[in-house]
Amino acid sequence: EKYMIVDKETCISCGACAASAPDLFDYDDDGLAFSLLDGNKGDVSVPDELLEDLADAYDGCPTESIRIGDQPFHGSPDKVA
Ligand code: F3S
Repeated sequence: EKYMIVDKETCISCGACAASAPDLFDYDDDGLAFSLLDGNKGDVSVPDELLEDLADAYDGCPTESIRIGDQPFHGSPDKVA
């Protein structure tokens, strides 16, 4: 299972992620991306049918702000997962 979270500290609101994966990402009031799966906690596993979109978004983020891991992030993008 894969888990995903956005590091808002490094997101520059470029807008690429939701273009690649509209079911996975949206933007908050500051324009920063977050995971739609669980409000950016990184604790809900990514559905299989969205893994391809996730890979596209991951590859397209210019600041490497999208984290993907094998364990839940519990809200912390810095957690080694
Ligand atoms: Fe931010 Fe990267 Fe998306 S910079 S808006 S997380 S593509």
